[in-house]
Amino acid sequence: MVQKLAGEKDIASTTLNIPHPYEDGMAEEWIGTHQDRYEKGESLVLAIVLNGNGTLIGAIGLEISRDNDRAELGYWIGKPYWNKGYCTEAARALIQYGFDVLGLVRIHASHFRRNPASGRVMQNTGMIHEGSLRKHIKKWGKQEDLEVYGMLKEEWKTFD
Ligand SMILES: CC(C)(COP(=O)(O)OP(=O)(O)OC[C@H]1O[C@@H](n2cnc3c(N)ncnc32)[C@H](O)[C@@H]1OP(=O)(O)O)[C@@H](O)C(=O)NCCC(=O)NCCS
Repeated sequence: MVQKLAGEKDIASTTLNIPHPYEDGMAEEWIGTHQDRYEKGESLVLAIVLNGNGTLIGAIGLEISRDNDRAELGYWIGKPYWNKGYCTEAARALIQYGFDVLGLVRIHASHFRRNPASGRVMQNTGMIHEGSLRKHIKKWGKQEDLEVYGMLKEEWKTFD
């Protein structure tokens, strides 16, 4: 299911680490790294599933810098499930976990300027736009501008 959803070109197009084409075995290899990296305190990657039937619809994670007590948030949602608020819900939950359980002081995220939906997710969590990095990433041969967002623990507000 990861291969089917993450294998869509539109998912790879706006992310940094998702390969395209997404070959057989890549999902298993990616998933196989999660437990070890979690135990080392390097990252936390979780499946996003639908309430009720447990269908996998995407993934979300924190890349943790323990030395700095901060983490970078990243996520993707399969195309059939876009614009239903799922990523916003997952991002809010993981940010809360990062501050409350992991004891982080800062969580940040960034998106390509041409991917405003991801920016909306960041805004929906209460993250603050901290700046832009012009032509920061070369993606598929084209330099991309990045929009950078961040939140401090004391700025976090829960959503009920
Ligand atoms: C970015 C992504 C994770 C969003 O997931 P999602 O579950 O659809 O997100 P949500 O439904 O919680 O929120 C999407 C928001 O973007 C808005 N949006 C959608 N398309 C938009 C567009 N073209 N321009 C502006 N806003 C847009 C929606 O209206 C919604 O905003 P709202 O909550 O204010 O109504 C999903 O599109 C995705 O996986 N994209 C490919 C991978 C990717 O880009 N990952 C992030 C890398 S930084």
